[in-house]
Amino acid sequence: MTDKEYLKKYLPKEKFDEGLKKLKKNIPVQYIVGSVNFYGINIKVDENVLIPRFETEYLVEKTIKYVKKYLKEPIKIIDLGTGSGAISISLKTKLNCEVDGIDISLKALNVAKENAKLNNVEINFYQSDMLENVKGKYDLIISNPPYISYDEKVEKIVKENEPNIALFAKNEGLEFYEKILKRVNNNIKTPGIIAFEIGMNQGDKIKRIVKEYIKYTDIKIEKDLTNRDRYIFIFV
Ligand SMILES: C[S@@+](CC[C@H](N)C(=O)[O-])C[C@H]1O[C@@H](n2cnc3c(N)ncnc32)[C@H](O)[C@@H]1O
Repeated sequence: MTDKEYLKKYLPKEKFDEGLKKLKKNIPVQYIVGSVNFYGINIKVDENVLIPRFETEYLVEKTIKYVKKYLKEPIKIIDLGTGSGAISISLKTKLNCEVDGIDISLKALNVAKENAKLNNVEINFYQSDMLENVKGKYDLIISNPPYISYDEKVEKIVKENEPNIALFAKNEGLEFYEKILKRVNNNIKTPGIIAFEIGMNQGDKIKRIVKEYIKYTDIKIEKDLTNRDRYIFIFV
């Protein structure tokens, strides 16, 4: 579907011309419409949150599969860098679980809270710098953190519209994996799962960070639908 067709399908008729003008100004169609479908649920989006991506739906799907295989519900989950709340809300609707969602951005947290309400789920959203203000232990720690290196080329429409705080990370994009993994022993139960979305060239480097900081029983790097490394699952 082209962006124009997408607008036609999802915007009320009287808003179409205004929407088309925004499209010409290079505003992402999802922000113009104001919502996206993520893993079968409706998620409101605005310029304060990253537009949830198809790859992340696959992270949720794979994570559910591993939770069912290795853990016993009910479980406790924390979603680090929750943004719109897409991961938290979709997991809450599919698993018997309690979910905490944290973000450093208060504006993003407000969108996430609204999304939980819209989808009739209860999630505890609060502000933290990754695991810094997090107490307690979780069966599943999941994150799609910012992972684009500052020198990587990024599409203009993404860089100019989506929050840069949701996109970029220092240290070749590895900053947040290291930040999380350094503290994760305090917050993960055994058995437990740590699930990350990752950049396509980051798998081996993150594996090395994992080995430096935690004891694990298995690590799996998995591919997205375009056959690129995109996920890492750490079983502890
Ligand atoms: C790539 S976005 C992911 C958003 C959402 N989880 C998703 O998958 O669509 C990364 C998120 O991490 C948040 N973030 C950035 N730095 C952070 C930090 N130091 N602590 C917590 N969250 C942070 C951003 O505000 C953003 O919402």
